[in-house]
Amino acid sequence: MKPTKVTLTFDDGSAPIDLPIVSGNLGASVIDIRQLGKHGIFTYDPGFLSTASCSSEITYIDGDEGLLYYRGYPIQQLAEHCDFLEVSYLLMHGELPNQAQKETFVGTINRHTMLHDQLNNIFRGFRRDAHPMAVMVGVVGSMSAFYNDSMDVRDPKVREVAAYRLLAKVPTVAAWSYKYNLGQPFMYPQKRYNFAENFMHMMFATPTEDYEPNPVLAKAFDRILILHADHEQNASTSTVRLAGSSGANPFACVAAGIASLWGPAHGGANEATLKMLEEIGDVSRIGEYIKRAKDKTDSFRLMGFGHRVYRNMDPRAAIMRETCHQVLDEMGLNDDPMFKLALKLEQIALEDEYFVSKQLYPNVDFYSGIVMRAMGIPNSMFTAIFALARTAGWVAQWNEMLSDPEARIGRPRQLYTGAPRREFVSLDKR
Ligand code: SDX
Repeated sequence: MKPTKVTLTFDDGSAPIDLPIVSGNLGASVIDIRQLGKHGIFTYDPGFLSTASCSSEITYIDGDEGLLYYRGYPIQQLAEHCDFLEVSYLLMHGELPNQAQKETFVGTINRHTMLHDQLNNIFRGFRRDAHPMAVMVGVVGSMSAFYNDSMDVRDPKVREVAAYRLLAKVPTVAAWSYKYNLGQPFMYPQKRYNFAENFMHMMFATPTEDYEPNPVLAKAFDRILILHADHEQNASTSTVRLAGSSGANPFACVAAGIASLWGPAHGGANEATLKMLEEIGDVSRIGEYIKRAKDKTDSFRLMGFGHRVYRNMDPRAAIMRETCHQVLDEMGLNDDPMFKLALKLEQIALEDEYFVSKQLYPNVDFYSGIVMRAMGIPNSMFTAIFALARTAGWVAQWNEMLSDPEARIGRPRQLYTGAPRREFVSLDKR
């Protein structure tokens, strides 16, 4: 039997406070502290290590067991049997689509992949060497100025169209951010391709020669998108929810999510992991970097390792490692030194007391960079691809929040440690 309430008692004789304990369908129960404020006391939890910011039906993670479910389906089954748009539909609507629903959904997404033609000008405001994530934050945010019929976030139909627009257009923005970097012309979306093939075509095709996406690589790419689609209330999803709680338009909210994902502690870790592997360079230097990762005086961390929730192997990392084998095999890169280095680094770290005792395992970012690099995708695009995949989760979570009748503007409290009240001192007396 699970507890249904907890009583706070105070050592200064203040009246005890009874708080309800609420249980979900899976995972830890929560203490409902919403009434605590009226007793003149708050909770303190920087980084939300022990705080649930919302209730959600979308994704479930069991960090101890290394489980990840989207709407109850294990990620392994979805990665094996679905494509990214099916999973996006599942995240948004709560059920896997039947054949008719899937055809309608894919057709709708295909109709929204183009950008308003004036958006081309926004790209040209950036330096050619701008990081693709900087361009994506800017261009996605500027979509607020082009799709004025997606602003009334209280209307469920408006939210659905905005969600579909973002899911369909963010890949175009990402691919064009890359083309702009290269100084190559933008390649327009093609309806004859599926979602993954279309992105690869926009990334790698040029007007001067035929290009057909490699179906093995396209399938692997599609699986990478599925693995990155959603992940409970991670930093970028929480950013989207908090921005959306003020009623901000969906494009501004997703632009905020892209900005948060860019951080090396979050979605930027895939790019940082590959840079780390390139810096290590050789198996003989792994020990030096393991030592640095354990040295508290050294800011170096083993990128692609550790996770706020997983205290076991990130299930996505295991699938990504398998995908890595497939892609390297297809590309004839089985002897890829980076992959061999990553496998050895993983093996050494998982045998090291420091990593074992702190339950630090490879996360989704450890292998994703190697796979994407083998596909010819540059480091700078890794997080942009993470962002286009996570757009499915961001819009699903954003919509879930706004569909909740209890939805309110997010406004955390604080523990004030600043100066007590004091009187103003004029300039001549300071
Ligand atoms: C993603 O939240 C999500 O779900 C995110 C994500 C998603 O899909 O949205 O899964 C995607 O962001 C994956 C994580 C990608 N980041 C990295 O790979 C960067 C490297 N990892 C770390 O920076 C770190 O592990 C975090 C940020 C992922 C988690 O940090 P926490 O939960 O705040 O853990 P912590 O910093 O408190 O670390 C606990 C201990 C510390 O040591 P002590 O102070 O207890 O002695 O573990 C150590 C840390 O120093 N530690 C590491 C380490 N990660 C944690 N030591 C060396 N190398 C590391 N990678």
